[in-house]
Amino acid sequence: MNLFFVHRDGTIVTPELTGTILEGVTRFSILELAGDLGLKVEERRVSIDEWREGVTSGEISEVFACGTAAVVTPVGRLVWEGGEVLIGDHDVNGGWVR
Ligand SMILES: Cc1ncc(COP(=O)(O)O)c(C=O)c1O
Repeated sequence: MNLFFVHRDGTIVTPELTGTILEGVTRFSILELAGDLGLKVEERRVSIDEWREGVTSGEISEVFACGTAAVVTPVGRLVWEGGEVLIGDHDVNGGWVR
């Protein structure tokens, strides 16, 4: 699957194709549709720190995975040894607040 980050201003960011990221058809389709809808799209490297700090500050409002098998699936938590951040409306019990 591929991963997308939705920013507060509506910008959609996905990791650029560096050789280890698959140029998936779902990724491509979302980038094209977002552009058609007038959303700003960025293909660039995204660090785990940017993800964690972006969710904490509210700069990143949503994260989703996509792929033919994954469809478009919200990512609700980023978890690491000793901590986690919840993303968007996801609650700690694995459900959705709304
Ligand atoms: C490593 C990897 N990334 C991304 C994808 C998603 O690609 P697609 O959108 O073409 O299904 C897949 C699908 O199998 C995959 O294996």
